[in-house]
Amino acid sequence: MVDKIHGLTVEELERLDVGSLRAILHERTHHGIEVVIYRILKGKMEKPPNLGEEAKVLLRIWEKRELPMDTPDIEWVKKNIEMAEKLNAGETFDTGLELPKPFSESEMATVKKLLYGRRSIRQFRNEPVPDWMIEEILYAGLMSPQGCNVDSRRFIVLRDPEKWKLVQSDIPLDYGVMIIVCQDIRVYQALKFDKAAPQNIYFDAATAADHICLMAHALGLGACWLTHGELTQKRIRNYFKLPETFVTRCHIIVGWPDESPIKSQRMSLKDSIVVNG
Ligand SMILES: Cc1cc2nc3c(=O)[nH]c(=O)nc-3n(C[C@H](O)[C@H](O)[C@H](O)COP(=O)(O)O)c2cc1C
Repeated sequence: MVDKIHGLTVEELERLDVGSLRAILHERTHHGIEVVIYRILKGKMEKPPNLGEEAKVLLRIWEKRELPMDTPDIEWVKKNIEMAEKLNAGETFDTGLELPKPFSESEMATVKKLLYGRRSIRQFRNEPVPDWMIEEILYAGLMSPQGCNVDSRRFIVLRDPEKWKLVQSDIPLDYGVMIIVCQDIRVYQALKFDKAAPQNIYFDAATAADHICLMAHALGLGACWLTHGELTQKRIRNYFKLPETFVTRCHIIVGWPDESPIKSQRMSLKDSIVVNG
């Protein structure tokens, strides 16, 4: 019998904003099933009674509220619950998925081109960036790792040069698209992560921004991660009438490259390894 989840009763969960409910559902699926089930299957851990019970309760609330049941994340929740139910029924199973394998030589060459060939590009040609490319870029951002799979990331895509003026940074954008990486911080408040692991909030935005830059590079576009401050955060919030709990973190300018800078270099790897024991 589940009494409260993250300190909230079923009635409170039924009234909770959707973003926070989704975050709690993801987190309970993640910690309540995903991170333990494969260890249980390997015999490294005892199965707790009613594995995945909280995720089941949350999914019922989600369904009762008539929220979409066929989105990729909810499908993932359902699969996890199915697996947990099998174990609860004394069955065992195999995901049927292959173990990760090393990339082939040519695949590795592509990965290196992606990771080491990327460089910040700050000037762009006056050519339109197709919508499908922006979608591919945003999807890469969304799929980046995130603490407890909370899904806090939100994006604002600005194609209109007039709206670029809302964002203040050291690099002006003449042509291209501006992507603002934002977060709904209610999800962290609901999970109390704003107190327990506040650094994860920034990391979650950063992984998305990094994936965005990498996908832009793979598409032959240039991109640069840019910093903005609180003034920009406020202007964006006010202009788009977004709540206080909606924060912008950074923006990335994307477009067809019109400069070919020397790739910046780092200290030697040897100097960066402090302990290797
Ligand atoms: C957190 C962060 C903030 C950044 N802010 C800015 C910025 O405000 N202006 C800028 O021109 N570049 C900015 N950049 C891009 C860096 O200058 C760039 O990544 C760095 O010089 C390394 O060059 P590379 O990206 O070509 O490897 C930022 C990058 C990161 C990760």
